[in-house]
Amino acid sequence: MKNPIDRRHALKTTLLGTAVGVFTSHNSEAKSSPTPPEIEGPFYPVTQQKDKDFDLTQIEGRSEKAKGEVVSLTGKVVDTEGNPIEDAMVEMWQANAAGRYAHPRDTSKAPLDPNFQGWAIVPSGKEGGFHFKTIKPGAYKVAKKWTRPPHLHFKITKFGFRPLTTQMYFPEDVELQKTDGLLQRKEKDAQILMIAKKIADGKYSYQIVLAKADQPDSPQQD
Ligand SMILES: [Fe+2]
Repeated sequence: MKNPIDRRHALKTTLLGTAVGVFTSHNSEAKSSPTPPEIEGPFYPVTQQKDKDFDLTQIEGRSEKAKGEVVSLTGKVVDTEGNPIEDAMVEMWQANAAGRYAHPRDTSKAPLDPNFQGWAIVPSGKEGGFHFKTIKPGAYKVAKKWTRPPHLHFKITKFGFRPLTTQMYFPEDVELQKTDGLLQRKEKDAQILMIAKKIADGKYSYQIVLAKADQPDSPQQD
């Protein structure tokens, strides 16, 4: 056997080995619910790369661009009161247009794209804003009856706030979302918070809400 770890096994291992993030919405003090967490998944980058800027469609020093539909994602990081969070570290990684990760555990036969950056890290700006220019990730199969809908993986960290690992979906992929084993474990309210808004063709917006590090999940008892 050439590849002892297939992608289905890899994802299952991750599911079993990771505590399921529980969405909590009963903090009556908060105006906005924190963005629901989701598993990191098996394809978090393990190979260092120099270029991790906001534009994933082109790798520095290469003349060709990534294959696929270019999409623009404008985001904002805020706290549960709606205040912008400046200088949060926003990390994003994703599959290419064919649904393949540039990761040794991804043994899919879908082609790699040597011109796709696949991974980016940017700080949020003064108003909490960030922007990625990327390509729409392809869907990929993880089991016979389970194809993951296109999604972006995120990790967001900021001193004083709870680190967040999550996954973001696109509003047009409703059919695949209905059968997604990860998204369907979430309450409906939580699912809505994990789906970006379409603002124009190829343009999306996404708000990330971080909980303060000392923010209680439930009303405190004296
Ligand atoms: Fe993924």
